[in-house]
Parts: sequence; C-alpha cells; structure tokens
Amino acid sequence: MTEQPDTPVDPVVLTTERLVLRPPQACDLEAVFAACQDEEIQRWTVVPSPYRLEDAEYFVNDLAANGWRTGEARIWCVLERASGAMVGTQGITLAPGRPGSAEVGWWAAKEYRGRGYTVEAARAVARYGLTELGLRRLEWQAYVGNDGSRAVAERVGYRFEGTLRSYAEQRGVFHDAWVASLLATDLD
Ligand SMILES: CC(C)(COP(=O)(O)OP(=O)(O)OC[C@H]1O[C@@H](n2cnc3c(N)ncnc32)[C@H](O)[C@@H]1OP(=O)(O)O)[C@@H](O)C(=O)NCCC(=O)NCCS
Repeated sequence: MTEQPDTPVDPVVLTTERLVLRPPQACDLEAVFAACQDEEIQRWTVVPSPYRLEDAEYFVNDLAANGWRTGEARIWCVLERASGAMVGTQGITLAPGRPGSAEVGWWAAKEYRGRGYTVEAARAVARYGLTELGLRRLEWQAYVGNDGSRAVAERVGYRFEGTLRSYAEQRGVFHDAWVASLLATDLD
C-alpha cells in the first residue's frame, strides 16, 4: 500500500552489514554540526552555510522529528556498527502531489568517505522505501557536477534520466540538476 503524507509513522531502524540507520537523536548534535562544516556538504546540499549549532538542532529536533511524526519524511543518522560513530545521514521525503513518489538524499562525514558506506546505507533505504513503504518511484537529484553523489546513485541502481535546467533551489539560487530514479520494478 502506498503511504500518504500526514500518516504518523513509528520511527524505523535499518541495519546493514556494517551500519545501523536510526532516527537522529540529541546525542547526534555535535557530530552533525561537525560534519556539516565540510565545504563539500555545504556546496552540494541545501544545508545552511555557514552551518551553526542551531542548524544541527533544527535538523534533529524539527526537520527529522516532524518528518517522522507526520510521515512526510524519514530521516536517519547512519552509524558505524563497530564504533558507534555517526558517519552520515540518509533521507526519504515524499513528493507532494505525486503519490507513491519520494526524493532521496544523503551525505557522508568527510572522515568516513570512500568506504562504500553511503552506497550500503542508500541500498537499505531504497529497499525500505520500495518494499516496506510500497513506494513506486524513488528520485535522486543532484546539482550538475556532483560526480560523487551520482556514482553512489548509479551503484545503488538508480537510472539516469537527464538534466533539468534551473531546477533545484539551493539557498535562493536555482541550479541545473541531474535526475535519476529507482522503481519498485527495478528491484525484480
Ligand atoms: C557523495 C558522497 C555522499 C559519497 O559518499 P561516500 O561515502 O564516499 O560514497 P561511497 O564510499 O559509498 O562510494 C560509492 C562510490 O562512489 C564513488 N565516488 C565517491 N565520491 C566520488 C567522487 N567525488 N567522484 C567520483 N566517484 C566518487 C566511489 O569511488 C564509489 O565507487 P566504487 O564503489 O565504484 O568504488 C560524499 O562525497 C558527500 O557527502 N558529498 C557531499 C554531500 C553530497 O554531495 N551529498 C549528495 C547531494 S545530492
């Protein structure tokens, strides 16, 4: 069954071979704040720049918490099982007006890149979205030139669909965007 916005949901924990994905908690604030100082995260995502501790508090206490409460977004902190370290975030946000469709997003903390963690986490999120949530289409978008995020999407199985001009807003500026999708039928 396809879930609609405003359906309250129980927070979900996903586990993979090396990672656990769980909803953000107050204990993640410092790690989120530290990770988001990275210029690559500020360059390629919509996080505020400069990034303040209040922005991490908003992420944990408002954006993620409200997303889980309303069902409009599922946001996870990604933790390394071996150490408990916070290595990144993942999210699925339902697309308003497009039932069964949602947008994915991710970043990895600089120190934990290049280990395949983002692909591993994004695979678990995709499987959850397309099977447990019953979504029809997961959409990945990135500003043109974000080769790292595109490599992750393609490793997970997202199929490239094209470039949308002046499409994705970042802090009041519109960028050309790459778009790819993963359908429930792609999992077969
Ligand atoms: C993009 C990002 C999430 C990749 O995270 P990561 O944990 O290093 O990714 P992984 O280790 O899972 O790498 C997966 C694949 O992507 C490739 N890759 C990673 N960064 C790359 C880059 N800059 N250019 C080309 N390929 C890259 C890896 O080589 C790997 O491919 P392989 O399995 O064939 O070796 C990370 O660099 C990041 O947080 N960037 C800033 C924020 C961002 O861009 N978020 C996405 C917004 S759409």
